[in-house]
Amino acid sequence: MTAPRIAVVGCGYLGAVHAAGMASLGFDTVGIDVDASKVEALAAGSAPFFEPGLDAMLRGAIDAGTLRFTTDAAGVDADVWFVCVGTPQQPGSNAADLTFVDAAVEALVPHLREGMLVVGKSTVPVGTAERLASVVEQTGARLAWNPEFLREGLAVTDTLAPDRLVYGVRHGDDVAVAALDAVYASILERDTPRIVTDFATAELVKVSANAFLATKISFINAIAEVAEASGADVVQLADAIGIDARIGRRFLNSGIGFGGGCLPKDIRAFRARSIELGADEALGFLDEVDRVNQRRRDRMVALVERELAAAGGGAVAMLGLAFKPDSDDVRDSAALEVAMRLAASHDVVAYDPEAGAPAARRAPELGIVASLDAALADATVIALGTEWREFRDLDPADVATRTAARVVVDGRNVLDRDAWSAAGFRVVAIGRPDRDPATTASHQEASA
Ligand code: UGA
Repeated sequence: MTAPRIAVVGCGYLGAVHAAGMASLGFDTVGIDVDASKVEALAAGSAPFFEPGLDAMLRGAIDAGTLRFTTDAAGVDADVWFVCVGTPQQPGSNAADLTFVDAAVEALVPHLREGMLVVGKSTVPVGTAERLASVVEQTGARLAWNPEFLREGLAVTDTLAPDRLVYGVRHGDDVAVAALDAVYASILERDTPRIVTDFATAELVKVSANAFLATKISFINAIAEVAEASGADVVQLADAIGIDARIGRRFLNSGIGFGGGCLPKDIRAFRARSIELGADEALGFLDEVDRVNQRRRDRMVALVERELAAAGGGAVAMLGLAFKPDSDDVRDSAALEVAMRLAASHDVVAYDPEAGAPAARRAPELGIVASLDAALADATVIALGTEWREFRDLDPADVATRTAARVVVDGRNVLDRDAWSAAGFRVVAIGRPDRDPATTASHQEASA
């Protein structure tokens, strides 16, 4: 069997990595996007966003001649067409906006014919694939739904070595399964679990996975609220419950909560879809998951304001704006929202190793600087919003020589509180008792 030729429609965080990944596996691959500047950057081997390892993978595949990008699907001839466009939250509603998915499939129709496979990877409300299948099947082509579980920051590894593959196909569609197996042959060779199911289950697998992850984070953040009210330490608690393999320690990191282009909008769209389906009560808890998450942002703002007031005013050094480390994505970023809310009534100087430019586009009024030292220089309170390695590895004794600030509010519960308090800082965290500079800290430890 000849290797399938691949087209990837939509070259954002998901599609660009998927196209580069498929090409790096040796498939003749074309990435298609309506945004000419994005296509130009990708064609030059440089992603228009920060994703570790992606530029190298792009350049490798472009140099090997397996990857190209275009704005025009007309000249593309492919056997497998992946749909990787975005499904953002609709303005004024919790539901997903399917405009881009619908438009992408409509635009493919003139190019489709028997023997071709359209593969949806976008995260969609359950029922979408069934609806799109009727459009695709009229051309003689087939549809499969193959949700994507990649994490930003780890997208290259997650694409080339996913922990599972899920194929949603029409009952008994062995041709679609065989076509997907041909694409993922090298991944399947490593005994990667492969689940073949129907459209609805495949769609639900994806949104359920994200809903579970969001719930796990909001669970520990709800416990953090009780820990704060009772003087307990949520980090030690997470370590202790996480040892139980049934619970697991991952995604139990408390702090200012989840953001990004996926978890927040996916839980809202899932809830909205469940109501449309008449299962109103089933996912009511996701509203609470969302509320707990939003409250953590309020709490961070309140803690920083409390410390500023105690210090008699001054400026905030906001460390981190991205929704998580190793990404420059600021969509629904908790750190960026906290920075913007603080900046409404205080001096805020923000620094992020990669997300400065995207954050400035979203929040032009925010004072964003290009170096950590510039952020620290005139600060009274240091606020950590994104746990970049650069911040986690800071030597607090060295920081003390670079700033007059003597308070750090750790919004991600990642700083070594002993080291920071030993260096003369008051350490305030979410869901943990405050820690005053060293002398009282050692007393607290002794009596703990
Ligand atoms: C998420 C899922 O993890 C991926 O499996 C999925 O493919 C992707 O959405 C998607 O739907 O495309 P991602 O948005 O890249 O991936 O980010 P995560 O690593 O899940 O983190 C989401 C947010 O939760 C971040 O803001 C992070 O800081 C926060 N988080 C994560 C916590 O607050 N605590 C934790 O313990 C873990």
